[in-house]
Amino acid sequence: MDRILIRGGKPLNGTIHISGAKNAALPLMAASLLTDETLSLANLPHLADISTMANLLSELGVTIGMNGEAGGGGHFGRVFELQADGPIETTAPYDLVRKMRASVLVLGPLLARFGRARVSLPGGCAIGTRPVDLHLKALAQMGAEIELDEGYVEARAPNGLKGAHIVFPMVTVGGTENLLMAAALADGEAVLANAAREPEVADLAHCLVAMGAQIEGIGSDTLRIRGASALHGASYSVVPDRIETGTYAVAAAVTGGELLLKGSRLDLISSVVDVLRGTGVEVSEADGGIRVRQGDEGLKGIDVMTEPFPGFPTDMQAQMMVLMSVAGGASMITETIFENRFMHVPELARMGAQVNVHGSSAIVRGVAGLKGAQVMATDLRASVSLVLAGLAASGETEISRVYHLDRGYERIEDKLAACGADIERVKA
Ligand code: UD1
Repeated sequence: MDRILIRGGKPLNGTIHISGAKNAALPLMAASLLTDETLSLANLPHLADISTMANLLSELGVTIGMNGEAGGGGHFGRVFELQADGPIETTAPYDLVRKMRASVLVLGPLLARFGRARVSLPGGCAIGTRPVDLHLKALAQMGAEIELDEGYVEARAPNGLKGAHIVFPMVTVGGTENLLMAAALADGEAVLANAAREPEVADLAHCLVAMGAQIEGIGSDTLRIRGASALHGASYSVVPDRIETGTYAVAAAVTGGELLLKGSRLDLISSVVDVLRGTGVEVSEADGGIRVRQGDEGLKGIDVMTEPFPGFPTDMQAQMMVLMSVAGGASMITETIFENRFMHVPELARMGAQVNVHGSSAIVRGVAGLKGAQVMATDLRASVSLVLAGLAASGETEISRVYHLDRGYERIEDKLAACGADIERVKA
């Protein structure tokens, strides 16, 4: 297994091109199942999760043409042309779905267009513990018959899906996306209330509109979708990755450097920007991107609670903890989206961070500096927090299990090295 070695303590200076958002790209790719015409998606990031979704879709019968590299200046957004015009399999098998929970996003489009879908429950997941129950209940409200059989969701809608008024009991990003796609081909009007407002959900809605869907309320918590009998092809470009943006903003702050995050937009990360500014980081929109530097007064602690968009994203929680670890004073993080999302704490503690976890809150006491250590990545955002800690720390940090990073960060060591980081990947 590959490892990443970082000799920390060097300020990062320069320009980082922000890639297309993984979490927008995955549902957009699944939306190709909704039409027999070509869906052309630009600005797709080079990531393991994108390959996993491409493998799943081609296994189902979608033909995928890759149209080379677009853009310049070290930016390699890819263009995929996806076409679901041949015979389409409606079973998404366990060995593909277990690799990535977002595979469940094929459920809505398969069911809406073909009247049936058999999708493995995501790996290690049972309804009730790491659930997709809200997706299934909402699809049932649209007339789907749903059974669980040998670890698979068996969904049928022999007479098609029907419009319905769905009120999500809690905000679910994937649930909103699955239902948006299902409703686009349903009979009549569907209303999704308490819908997720994440920019990636809006990106999917805009793409569906480009494919001929009628959707009102995009970007709000109430989406109204008037179903169509068929959708057509479209060309669409994926929104910049707000989590990658926030991650590199923290990298500039904790190393005391200055980065231009090219191609990204402040409106995608306003809650993160508010928190960064509260800690003393200077953030401004400039030169086709976002410029970030640590302010002259240094970093100070702040309290943060994760919430659905437009609140502070759970996917930035681990990275912000690194900033808090080297900021003056105490900070508190309260995680309200996922119960068990402090797996990075013991690893950061190995590098000298002082963090106490009490239930869903963590108290972080700032230390004068972190020290390099051998640490292990546990999940995507936890592993990037270790990279940030390694960049800020004195001495050498060795991170193992970096395959987690490759799921969500495109060429991370190249992007960081180009701005002065001493970072290398050691192949196994
Ligand atoms: C998406 C993002 C992920 C992010 C998360 C929250 C993608 C591919 N992934 O994940 O990076 O961390 O949003 O912003 O876009 N829940 C249920 N029942 C359901 C569905 C969800 O109880 O049927 C719960 C989940 O366990 C979790 C909460 O709702 O506690 C939010 O989950 P959800 O918004 O659905 O996250 P994902 O779409 O899986």
